Amino acid sequence: MHELYTVLAEYYDVIYRKRAERVEDEIDFVEELFRKEAERKVKKILDLACGTGIPTLELARRGYEVTGLDLHEEMLAVARRKAEGEGLGIEFIQGNALELDF
Ligand SMILES: C[S@@+](CC[C@H](N)C(=O)[O-])C[C@H]1O[C@@H](n2cnc3c(N)ncnc32)[C@H](O)[C@@H]1O
Repeated sequence: MHELYTVLAEYYDVIYRKRAERVEDEIDFVEELFRKEAERKVKKILDLACGTGIPTLELARRGYEVTGLDLHEEMLAVARRKAEGEGLGIEFIQGNALELDF
C-alpha cells in the first residue's frame, strides 16, 4: 500500500484531477466545520497525510498557516514544487502520522 505512493506521486494529481478541481468545495466544508465546532479561531493547521498537497495548498491560499506531513518524500516533492510555484510558504515534513512526538 505505502509503496504505491512512491510510484504514484508524479501521476497523483493527474489521476485525481477532477477531485482537485473541487477542492474549493472541500475546504468550504472544512471552514464551515471550523466555524461551527472550533473553540477558537483556527489559524494554524497540520495536514496529516497531505500527499501532493491538494487541500494543503488551498488552505494556505485562504491564509491559514499550514504544515503538511506525509510518509512519502515523493509525494512531498510534488507538494513542495506546487507550493513554490504559487509562492505559498508551506512547511512540508516527512513523517509518520501514527508516530508523532508532538
Ligand atoms: C489518498 S492520499 C491523500 C493525500 C491528500 N490528503 C489529499 O487529500 O489529496 C494518502 C496519503 O497518505 C499518506 N500516508 C499514508 N500513511 C501515512 C502515515 N502513516 N503517515 C503519514 N502519511 C501517510 C500517503 O503517503 C499518501 O500521500
